[in-house]
Parts: sequence; C-alpha cells; structure tokens
Amino acid sequence: MNFDLSETQTLIRDTARKFARERVAPHARAADREERFDPEVFKALAEVGLLGVNLPGKYGGAEAGVVSYALAMMEMAAADASVSVAMAVTNMCAELIHAVGTDAQREKYVTRITSGEAIVGAFALSEPHAGSDPGAMRTTAVKRGDTYVLNGSKQWITSGAYAGVIVVWARTGQAGNKGLSCFIVEGGAKGLHVGKHEDKMGLRASNTVGLTFEDCEVPAENLLGKEGDGFRLAMMALDGGRIGIAAQACGTGRAALEAAVSYTKDRKAFGQAVADLQAPRFMMADMRTQLDAAELLTLRAAALKEAGQPFTREASMAKLFASEMSNKVADKAVQLHGGYGYIDEFPVERYFRDARVQTIYEGTSEVQRMVIARETFRREG
Ligand code: CAA
Repeated sequence: MNFDLSETQTLIRDTARKFARERVAPHARAADREERFDPEVFKALAEVGLLGVNLPGKYGGAEAGVVSYALAMMEMAAADASVSVAMAVTNMCAELIHAVGTDAQREKYVTRITSGEAIVGAFALSEPHAGSDPGAMRTTAVKRGDTYVLNGSKQWITSGAYAGVIVVWARTGQAGNKGLSCFIVEGGAKGLHVGKHEDKMGLRASNTVGLTFEDCEVPAENLLGKEGDGFRLAMMALDGGRIGIAAQACGTGRAALEAAVSYTKDRKAFGQAVADLQAPRFMMADMRTQLDAAELLTLRAAALKEAGQPFTREASMAKLFASEMSNKVADKAVQLHGGYGYIDEFPVERYFRDARVQTIYEGTSEVQRMVIARETFRREG
C-alpha cells in the first residue's frame, strides 16, 4: 500500500489549491452573504481543467483520474463549499454523458461542459414529491416523432438557473424505478422554466432552483442510454457523485479544523492559550482523527473507482462518514470559538451552515446506510 501522491495527483491538488486560495477564498464570505453565484469562476475553473478532471483530453478533460478529482474537490470545498458543489455536479454530469453517451453526445455536450461554454452542468433528478425515492417521480417524457415532450417539475436543482447542459430524468414507461429514462436538455430550451432561487441555510452562494417543463421538446437523439435505463444511470452517476460530496465534506471539515487551531492558539483563557487547555486539546484530537478517517475512506473509494473495481458501497461509506464528520467538526469548531463562533466575523459559522446539507444531498445518511447494508448482504456471506 502506498499513500504517496503521483506527480499528476500532486499537480492537480496544487492547481486546485492555488485557484481555491487566490480566486475563491477571498470572496467566499461576501458571496455567502449576497447569495452570489459567479459564472466567471466556472469559466476559469474550466481553463485549469477542473470541470472534467477524470475525463479524456479528447473531450477537454484533464485525464487525471478520480483520486485527483477528490483531492481537487477537497481544496475547493475548503475555500468555498458553494463553488465546490457546482464543480462536483458539473464533473458528475460530464462523466455520466461520457460514460453512457453516444460519440455525438460526447462530442457536443462533454466538450461544452469541460470548456466552460456551458458554465456548469445540472443534475435534475429530485422532484417535490420524490427525493430519496426517485422511482416515485412524476415528470413524463412522451415520444412524438423525433422528439420527446417533457412535462413536470424538478426541485433543488443545483446551478439550475445557469447550467447550459442539464441531465434530466423523466418517466417514459411503467410506474417505479424501471419506467425512467434520462435526457440531455440544453439550458434555455423552449418550455423549460426556471423557478425562484431557494433561500438556504448554507451553501448560499450556490444557485438552487426548481425547474418546470411545460411541453418542452427534446430531440430524441438526446436520450441518454436506452429507454428504461434511467434509474440505473442515476445510481451509477450518484456512486461517483458521492465520492465528490465526501471530498467536499473533508474540505469543509479541514477548513473548520484549521480555523479552530488558529483561533485557540491566539485566544487566551485562564492565563494561557485555549490551545493549551486539556478539554480543547481532546476535542482537537477527536476532530483530527475523524477528519483523517474521512479522507482515507474518500480516497479509497476514489482509488477503487479509478482502478475499475466495484466502489458503490465504499462511496456510500465515505459519503456517510465524511458528511457526519464535517457536521461534528464544524460544530466543535464553533464551540471552540465561543461567542465568536456564532458571528460572521469568523468563518466557522459558515462552515457549520454549509456542512448541514452534506448529510442530505446526493442521498441522505439514511440512504447511504441502505446502500451500505444492501451491498454488504450482497457481497458477504
Ligand atoms: N449501480 C447500478 N445499478 C444499481 C445501483 C448502482 N449503484 N444501485 C441500484 N441499482 C439497480 C439495482 O441493481 C436494481 O436493479 P434490478 O431491479 O434490475 O435488480 C435497481 O437498480 C433497483 O435497486 P434498489 O432495489 O436498490 O432500488 P431502491 O428503489 O430500493 O432504491 C436507493 C435504492 C439507494 C434508496 C436509491 O433510490 C437512492 O440512492 N436514493 C437516493 C437518491 C439521491 O441520492 N438523490 C440525490 C439527488 S441529486 C443531488 O443531490 C445533486 C445535488 O444537487 C448536489
């Protein structure tokens, strides 16, 4: 076993770190307060290859692998979780189209995403009545000639108002999981309406909207995979997506821990630095141990995916553990700041709010436990 990073992994991590620290971190607080999504950041991310980290150069990707992707996500999230979630969803959409799309779909849409022309990608699976249970979705796609006509509503769509390429799920057949299909829809398509921006607890600089499809005609050639394949494709995409969110949670956790180290070294109480008191030191020991465990689980899942081995369970374990970790670590970081942790002069209150959704989106902690248990009973015994 070798824990050293390759040259490519080091290069991607350092590129992401520089970008995150210079281009993203200085604006994170203001962007959060003003709920500001900046499309220019994503055009610049495309230029350094971070919108297609694990995609071939032929389609504009960095061809750097899944471990590099996870490392890049950790860096971006440590600077601003809002930017990192849009980066994660964009990479996930591009990877899905690359994995199952036709050559024409790859040529047109993967390249549009990796080049920054699309700004970002969006993943439209959830609906007002179907979050954890996508098989209950009501959006329909009816074939009419050489188009599919989409009708229905999607909810909680990250970057939905900005995305030039949207992967959309709709029902083409029977009730339940087996009747779903997946389509590529272009941002601004006729009949696609963008709803109001959600006023969220955290990730306030990420754009979250509902999307409504009203007789929205999508060319039949934009069907991704086959009719009825939709649920499997969603699960496949989410397996990889969960590595991205696990990495995001590691970034949030690391930022919270670093802020707590810095604050407790400066802050005095009872005649000494808070960092020298035993209770904060024990807290810090637990925080660092949990963060390391989350990073190791995340990088293992990434390495398995990169090696072409099964990784569904490992991705869910990483996502479950890392998102629970980021919430605990951010909570302790607020505690260690005392009253200063509760005001926005220090960044930990933002980390605390940003961490909260990490146990919810791309599958709740409860959904991850369902997947881990299912895979454990399937693979062992
Ligand atoms: N890869 C390929 N196929 C898979 C799979 C996977 N990872 N997981 C399941 N399948 C297949 C199964 O083999 C099964 O196939 P058969 O019927 O042919 O046997 C089929 O799919 C159904 O599987 P299950 O019986 O396990 O399905 P289920 O209905 O019990 O649901 C679930 C399982 C894990 C709860 C799933 O519905 C799920 O993951 N739900 C959460 C959805 C989610 O994460 N949404 C996130 C929204 S996107 C988002 O948040 C993005 C963002 O903006 C940040």
